Amino acid sequence: MASPSNLRCFPISLLRLALVYIVTSPFCVRENVAQIQYRGVVGGNVTFRCPIDKNRTIDLLYIQRGNDFVNGHYASKETSHPVWANTRMDDDKRTIHMSSLNVSHNGDYQCYVMYGTELVQTDIHLSVTGNYSKPTLTMDCCEQNPPLSCQMTCFSHGGYPKTEVKWNVSGISKVTNNITRDDDTMLINITSTAHFNCSKEYMFIRCSVDNLSSEPLSVCKPKYPSYPHWPSEIIYGVIPFCLIAVVVALLVCKCNKCKKEVKADIENINPNLEAETFLNGKNQEAS
Ligand SMILES: *[C@@H]1O[C@H](CO)[C@@H](O)[C@H](O)[C@H]1NC(C)=O
Ligand SMILES: *[C@@H]1O[C@H](CO)[C@@H](O)[C@H](O)[C@H]1NC(C)=O
Ligand SMILES: *[C@@H]1O[C@H](CO)[C@@H](O)[C@H](O)[C@H]1NC(C)=O
Ligand SMILES: *[C@@H]1O[C@H](CO)[C@@H](O)[C@H](O)[C@H]1NC(C)=O
Ligand SMILES: *[C@@H]1O[C@H](CO)[C@@H](O)[C@H](O)[C@H]1NC(C)=O
Ligand SMILES: *[C@@H]1O[C@H](CO)[C@@H](O)[C@H](O)[C@H]1NC(C)=O
Ligand SMILES: *[C@@H]1O[C@H](CO)[C@@H](O)[C@H](O)[C@H]1NC(C)=O
Ligand SMILES: *[C@@H]1O[C@H](CO)[C@@H](O)[C@H](O)[C@H]1NC(C)=O
Ligand SMILES: *[C@@H]1O[C@H](CO)[C@@H](O)[C@H](O)[C@H]1NC(C)=O
Repeated sequence: MASPSNLRCFPISLLRLALVYIVTSPFCVRENVAQIQYRGVVGGNVTFRCPIDKNRTIDLLYIQRGNDFVNGHYASKETSHPVWANTRMDDDKRTIHMSSLNVSHNGDYQCYVMYGTELVQTDIHLSVTGNYSKPTLTMDCCEQNPPLSCQMTCFSHGGYPKTEVKWNVSGISKVTNNITRDDDTMLINITSTAHFNCSKEYMFIRCSVDNLSSEPLSVCKPKYPSYPHWPSEIIYGVIPFCLIAVVVALLVCKCNKCKKEVKADIENINPNLEAETFLNGKNQEAS
């Protein structure tokens, strides 16, 4: 009976595809190198490079994931075996490109290279991550002024794997995280709700997801300031205008009053006097 390690060296697709090559049982050499690590992002690409011995003739090179054939190259014939649609064997017949990565591509892969009757296996691990969106921070404060407590909500979407929301202040209470996962894409949305006790004065806070931070928000700030702060434009623009307006109004008023008084005086003067004045005026002009 074959041992488990030998079984790994005879994956189903290899047996199916490469029996022509395996007339006698090849011996399997597991590359004594650390597992190769590849990273990709959802929607991105990754290139698999199987380690090869350049001095030897390669009869067969292919990648599997467990028993699932991914893509490969056979020296003596064209492969008719179905390959993953998002993979492509490079013209160099050594490297395999995988595009349109999604979360389900995460996992362990094996690269097999056959030289004559010797089969060399290399383990590859691919980790695909999803970039979380820049978190958005919203605030809802209770009605009192200044508020006694505020509820902050931080939301970030479309990431993988699960992560934590960090708040850049201490003294927050009742943090609740709501994590939802899309069934198709497996991408995660994360909502974190935190309650702030406004007994301490917090100025600005922000939340972060991975290395992305939200815009800072001012928390526990009174909604209606007790002393209205007039903007300087008003102070320097409106006030002098008002002063001038008042002065002008006073002058106009005074002027009208003067005129009225003069008029009143004139009206009070008896007609004779008025005539006299007129005559005097005429006389003066004439003389
Ligand atoms: C991924 O590969 C495809 C084709 O191989 C290319 O068109 C695309 O620009 C690549 N995308 C990235 C993010 O590298
Ligand atoms: C490959 O062959 C060259 C000479 O043909 C030799 O110098 C080199 O050491 C060999 N490399 C390996 C890894 O065996
Ligand atoms: C994801 O984030 C990484 C690093 O933060 C960046 O290099 C990469 O371009 C981003 N990818 C996408 C698809 O946004
Ligand atoms: C989490 O959010 C989803 C969608 O917004 C909602 O349906 C669900 O009730 C929330 N779960 C909790 C525990 O708040
Ligand atoms: C995740 O958030 C995005 C953007 O708000 C939304 O379109 C999507 O339906 C959400 N998915 C889940 C599973 O909550
Ligand atoms: C990931 O992509 C493969 C094709 O490369 C597709 O068959 C599969 O449904 C996708 N999975 C998700 C979770 O989107
Ligand atoms: C807020 O903090 C003060 C003192 O730190 C405490 O007396 C008060 O009960 C707290 N309020 C809430 C709603 O936690
Ligand atoms: C949180 O971040 C904001 C914005 O950068 C900053 O003004 C504030 O001082 C930070 N708070 C703490 C406690 O670090
Ligand atoms: C965040 O940034 C630090 C250093 O700037 C880096 O070491 C780490 O890998 C980053 N994390 C993510 C999830 O991008």
